[in-house]
Amino acid sequence: MKKNWFDEKIKKFSLIGGYIKPELIPDSVKLDSNENYVISKQFQNDIISSAKKNSDVREYPLGRIDSLIKMISKFTKVSTSMIGVGNGSDQILDLILSNFASKQTKVLTSNPTFGFFEERCKLYSIPLIAIPFSDDMKLNIKDFVVQSKNADILYLDSPNNPTGFQFSKTELQKLIKSFNGLVIIDEAYGEFSEYSLASMVKNQSNLIVVQTLSKSFGLAGLRLGYFIANKKFTDAFMNILQYPYPLSTITIESGILALEKFDIMKKVVNDIKIERKRIIETLQKYDSFQVFDSKANFVLFDAHGSYKRVYSALVEQGISIRKLGKIGNHKGCLRVTIGTKEMNSKFLLAIRDLLG
Ligand SMILES: Cc1ncc(COP(=O)(O)O)c(C=O)c1O
Repeated sequence: MKKNWFDEKIKKFSLIGGYIKPELIPDSVKLDSNENYVISKQFQNDIISSAKKNSDVREYPLGRIDSLIKMISKFTKVSTSMIGVGNGSDQILDLILSNFASKQTKVLTSNPTFGFFEERCKLYSIPLIAIPFSDDMKLNIKDFVVQSKNADILYLDSPNNPTGFQFSKTELQKLIKSFNGLVIIDEAYGEFSEYSLASMVKNQSNLIVVQTLSKSFGLAGLRLGYFIANKKFTDAFMNILQYPYPLSTITIESGILALEKFDIMKKVVNDIKIERKRIIETLQKYDSFQVFDSKANFVLFDAHGSYKRVYSALVEQGISIRKLGKIGNHKGCLRVTIGTKEMNSKFLLAIRDLLG
């Protein structure tokens, strides 16, 4: 082996680029990462201070993941034997890709798809078959059916990040039933959408549904994701692929307490959906924008030639949204997260001042 083989390897990694995080704009109205500020700081303070009381971080969290899985089972109404956990759904997706996919396996997905997933495929040299969104930011299920014969893995974020699109339930179920390989349905934004496919796992052994507490429960910083899949996969994942202690004690205890209070999350999700409608309808009033429907906690719009100006003007006002630029034939895409009423009003007022 060549002496400096690792230098070459590092050089290869540096060509990949990696996942691009949003710009850190201190003290901004943060509408750039699909986080949830509608859930109160009190909710978070309460669960974390109770979690602290239940924790002794001198110890590894032996056995506590089982209690967390019992709570997830109660919440999702799926047997504990079909539930696994990870350090955010990012880590679950990564472990699936690094162990089940390779240069030889083709992944069928959409373009755009979840950025982290795409970057991980690049890292592992996993080829993608990516079906583009149409100009009205929709996907055609027929394109997926045609391409499914050429693919080993189907990955869809449902709803999709960054478009907010979700297939109809019957269409997606039909596609999954006809697919022979492994199916990963990423429901990071599932609670904001029309449906979940979690219960389909019971009769569909090739299906993994991935969910998270980052979005609907507003606990992105805890890094707690989970999946629902058949028992054989779940056993292999949890006993062999997953680290022995993937979650911190505080994460496990906080997760248990958050799931006990799921009714608070449900109310928050409802409020976000109402605000989503207000943002879509207000942005639609500007002729210079094309706004796309969304089933998630964010809205995508094309500000065409002025997207950089809109983005910078918002930053000047202390408002941070996500600058995406070109998506298909849309040259100036911006994505805004649905925040609290006050945050959203600040965003909409800044837009009015700029364009109104
Ligand atoms: C589609 C999708 N899946 C997964 C994630 C990651 O979630 P987690 O915080 O659980 O790692 C995100 C976060 O933005 C996402 O957009």
